[in-house]
Amino acid sequence: MHLSLDLPDAPATQKLGIKLGQILAPGSVVLLNGDLGTGKTTLIQGLGKGLGIEDLIDSPTFTLINEYADGRVPLYHFDLYRLSPAQVPSLNPELYWEAVEVAPGIVAIEWAEKLPYSPPEVLILDLSYQGEQRRVELWAKGPLSMAALQALSEEDQSFQVGLSC
Ligand SMILES: Nc1ncnc2c1ncn2[C@@H]1O[C@H](COP(=O)(O)OP(=O)(O)OP(=O)(O)O)[C@@H](O)[C@H]1O
Ligand SMILES: [Mg+2]
Repeated sequence: MHLSLDLPDAPATQKLGIKLGQILAPGSVVLLNGDLGTGKTTLIQGLGKGLGIEDLIDSPTFTLINEYADGRVPLYHFDLYRLSPAQVPSLNPELYWEAVEVAPGIVAIEWAEKLPYSPPEVLILDLSYQGEQRRVELWAKGPLSMAALQALSEEDQSFQVGLSC
């Protein structure tokens, strides 16, 4: 299942994140791909709002992983920008989506193209510049992500426009 949306401004990117934060189930993994400044952190800030997280969500570029526990579901925010694909396994990201020693939550990963393997259940967001504008393509793999994409398209007519199966 695939959804394609125009994101005319930063609030549109945030709104998509908020909707996903309201919809996504624990155990979901959101992979964010896209060039510098395409809106990955902005979308995750919306995701945090949708989960009811009050803390300020910032880019975890220097810490690599930030954890937020004060929402309806924990959020684990990764930023792989500074790592090579060979360095990523040392972070043990699978411990987060397999919820080993952490509570089941939503895992959101910036620069996910550096992940050398794919989690079994993912919602992939490919963010890009389209001239002056920005755009996102959403791809679901696995039942949780497919249900989320379906719910997203049913909830809001503006999201329905770009849906194809
Ligand atoms: N759809 C949009 N249209 C225009 N501006 C946007 C949009 N989404 C986000 N922005 C703005 O673009 C800038 C960069 O956004 P953001 O930091 O979220 O990008 P990023 O992909 O996380 O960047 P990086 O690659 O450095 O991690 C911010 O000023 C943000 O407000
Ligand atoms: Mg960022």
